[in-house]
Amino acid sequence: MAHFLTYLLLSFLIIYDSLGLSQSNQFCDAGVGYPESTCGFSSSSSSKLLIKGGTVLNAHQQEVADVYVEDGIIVAVKPNIKVDEDVTLLDATGKYVMPGGIDPHTHLAMEFMGTETIDDFFSGQAAALAGGTTMHIDFVIPVNGSLVAGFEAYKKKAKKSCMNYGFHMAITKWDESVSREMEIMVKEKGINSFKFFMAYKGSLMISDELLLQGLERCKSLGALAMVHAENGDAVFEGQKRMIDLGITGPEGHALSRPPVLEGEATARAIRLAKFVNTPLYVVHVMSIDAMEEIARARKSGQKVIGEPVVSGLVLNDSGLWDPDFVTAAKYVMSPPIRESGHDKALQAALSTGVLQLVGTDHCTFNSTQKAFGIDDFRKIPNGVNGIEERMHLVWDTMVESGQISVTDFVRITSTEWYDFIGTVLFIVTFFCFQIYSL
Ligand SMILES: *[C@@H]1O[C@H](CO)[C@@H](O)[C@H](O)[C@H]1NC(C)=O
Ligand SMILES: *[C@@H]1O[C@H](CO)[C@@H](O)[C@H](O)[C@H]1NC(C)=O
Ligand SMILES: *[C@@H]1O[C@H](CO)[C@@H](O)[C@H](O)[C@H]1NC(C)=O
Repeated sequence: MAHFLTYLLLSFLIIYDSLGLSQSNQFCDAGVGYPESTCGFSSSSSSKLLIKGGTVLNAHQQEVADVYVEDGIIVAVKPNIKVDEDVTLLDATGKYVMPGGIDPHTHLAMEFMGTETIDDFFSGQAAALAGGTTMHIDFVIPVNGSLVAGFEAYKKKAKKSCMNYGFHMAITKWDESVSREMEIMVKEKGINSFKFFMAYKGSLMISDELLLQGLERCKSLGALAMVHAENGDAVFEGQKRMIDLGITGPEGHALSRPPVLEGEATARAIRLAKFVNTPLYVVHVMSIDAMEEIARARKSGQKVIGEPVVSGLVLNDSGLWDPDFVTAAKYVMSPPIRESGHDKALQAALSTGVLQLVGTDHCTFNSTQKAFGIDDFRKIPNGVNGIEERMHLVWDTMVESGQISVTDFVRITSTEWYDFIGTVLFIVTFFCFQIYSL
């Protein structure tokens, strides 16, 4: 198991490393347990590093090679590189050398359900780095419906960052000004992916009419539309039904929003995206029902991307039935963690390419915050962790079990994001670089 995981993580992308250099100082300043020497090394103005003899992995191949890095930029990858004496040597014999992970779905410092997630851009990123993830894409939440105000707020939140990141934007209501601001995001701020909520009736949910307009807008801007796919009206009914039955504990959360509602909304979003003729990215695919809709659409040639999250891949709903509220509430997220069987099916879909890349939906609340819903599951802040654990859990669950190869591991935890989003993400990354240097 974990002893196999003797890899070294390396950011192959130049932009990461140019960011990494300036930020590692913040780690040192914050004194988060990094030895002095590491800090000194990372922040030196000119550094030369040779990583010798490791098995270098990317999404397509693996070979035993040396990696030569100068000032944070990979200069050469080939066997037996000869270097001068001033180069720091790192022996990677018997280890894998691979790109750092990219988590495409996180929520750091997010205000939600009357509170704010407990991981901010520093603590969440520190956890990510500890687990081998070197970049994440977070969702900007508009302020009072304003995308520009939301963007400004997130720029402030992200000031304490210690690694690279990008932004998607959530769309929480729809009107002319939102439509106008989407263009500003794409053309001036480098945000090119927008998430629409088909759930959270009364707060974030938008109607089909508005979803259609949003999809059209994404198409005209060349942006990527993402959906949280659950039928919000039916979830609302399901919740009422549970409360009427006197089921107020965390298990009521899962019972009130079964897989069929995720399947329905996924199918609807896919068909509307087909009608508009624009690509669709379905976030946190948690059930067989949703996965099968994606499989069908992809088979017919439609451009649909399915993102499972690590909690859905490795957990089942048994935690939600724990008699201890504190334990059970930890498992509350939406769509819910499903009963056993969905996890294995999602793993299989990932290994056959029906689903493409793994996120986390990292959105953490502590037990005090989760206890807001002690008498009513509807008030438990939704969210689980994963930003630190994702790489290890995918390795253990997918690679160790023989379901995917080590090169597939690199693809689904890291490079697939770039393959899809390509130029889109480049703009986002470039923009981040700009905010860092403010
Ligand atoms: C949101 O908008 C409403 C009305 O447009 C306004 O009264 C309120 O102060 C705004 N809230 C924030 C946080 O800007
Ligand atoms: C469900 O999850 C629990 C807790 O992780 C685990 O002990 C159990 O084996 C799982 N059930 C199945 C059928 O896999
Ligand atoms: C949870 O976080 C809140 C806000 O930071 C804090 O007041 C509270 O003490 C924390 N609870 C626990 C159990 O750590």
